[in-house]
Amino acid sequence: MKVLVIGSGGREHAIVDALYRSDKVSKIYCAPGNAGIAAMAECVPVKDTDVDGLLGFASEKGIDLTVVGPEASLSEGVVDAFRAAGLRIFGHTRDAARIESSKEFAKRLMIKYGIPTASYRVFSDYDEAVEYVNSRPFPAVLKYDGLAAGKGVVIAEDAESAREALASMLLDRSFGQGSVVVEDWLEGPEFSFMCFVDGDNVYPMPLAQDHKRAFDGDSGPNTGGMGAYTGLPFISEADRDFAFSEIMCKAASGMKAEGCPLSGVLYGGLMKTADGIKVIEFNARFGDPETEVVLPLLESDITDIFCAVADGRKAASPRWSESVSIGVVLASKGYPGSYGKGAGIEIPEHLSGKIYHMGTAVSEGRLVTAGGRVLMPVCKGATLAEARAEVYKIASQIKCDKLFYRSDIAHQAL
Ligand code: AMP
Ligand code: GLY
Repeated sequence: MKVLVIGSGGREHAIVDALYRSDKVSKIYCAPGNAGIAAMAECVPVKDTDVDGLLGFASEKGIDLTVVGPEASLSEGVVDAFRAAGLRIFGHTRDAARIESSKEFAKRLMIKYGIPTASYRVFSDYDEAVEYVNSRPFPAVLKYDGLAAGKGVVIAEDAESAREALASMLLDRSFGQGSVVVEDWLEGPEFSFMCFVDGDNVYPMPLAQDHKRAFDGDSGPNTGGMGAYTGLPFISEADRDFAFSEIMCKAASGMKAEGCPLSGVLYGGLMKTADGIKVIEFNARFGDPETEVVLPLLESDITDIFCAVADGRKAASPRWSESVSIGVVLASKGYPGSYGKGAGIEIPEHLSGKIYHMGTAVSEGRLVTAGGRVLMPVCKGATLAEARAEVYKIASQIKCDKLFYRSDIAHQAL
């Protein structure tokens, strides 16, 4: 099989790595890829949102399976275009991807199908939004209804900061013409539940936890994610079963009933509150950095599940290792604010574990930084403590004075 992966981050590196382990795959292309992916796949200079360019490339090369990483590609309609051209692709249609791209669509789905989530109201009028927020307890959770590059959620501690955020979203239109979802504030540990989903079948992956804040002790600004691990001791088997049947399966059947069946990964961003497990958000794709710790645990051939979901056929349930895994993100100093690029990186050879590239390039023959999140070493182990010691040993051996990382990944578990 010739396979094309769309995207350029650590998530796509982990997907390419899983495909590379398959006996059925003879050639992998990645558009556009990165310097680490280039060791396993041929990187092609086509942007992940250039639907015509991707379709032209896949047709010309006779690609048997395309796998979509980023949400932006789904929202551009890459799946719709490939299907219309008779090409097999793993990912959701534009309509189905609204479960991530529209907060209001996702909220309505959850209420209609009885999926537990925070209660909410939607506003397009600034004055009405301010009045409602002031009539409720703080903190207030304000979510811009549309894609906002991860900056569309504000947890406002008081009336003044709520007013500021609402003015930016509804008066200044900082992100666009969308409305604002105001929802109740929930409390508890968060975790990520990813499932492969086609219209009727839902195949769970191991649970993972991300670390959104930049610095140790969950302090500092929100980021795309600074590290992840599997093997969450605070989520019981019963919690997981509840999340699977009452959240993930209900969302899948609800989407089918709404006429936009899923055909890719459904990501539940969930919270274990005193009142039970609730949905914070759904994403329509693999999480990043969760994918980098989850896919290394897959023991079956990933092409079987990708092809079955893309074709809408039932697959054999994927097998997962009993091990746990952990990964630490090495990010450019300054991230998630402004940061430099082009700093040299030295990775000693023969390190154990995997090192996924998130934002790297090759310049004049040497590996350099090329993004906010740059590298992610990942280690597996029988216990988290063991894997964690190993992954931090690797992180400390990667030489680059322009990178930083958190030293407390998995602190909620240990
Ligand atoms: P979202 O983009 O919806 O995942 O929100 C980003 C982050 O904001 C989440 O990971 C949570 O930490 C936080 N958050 C979102 N919604 C709520 C809520 N209703 N209550 C408490 N925290 C929330
Ligand atoms: N790790 C969070 C996300 O992928 O959205």
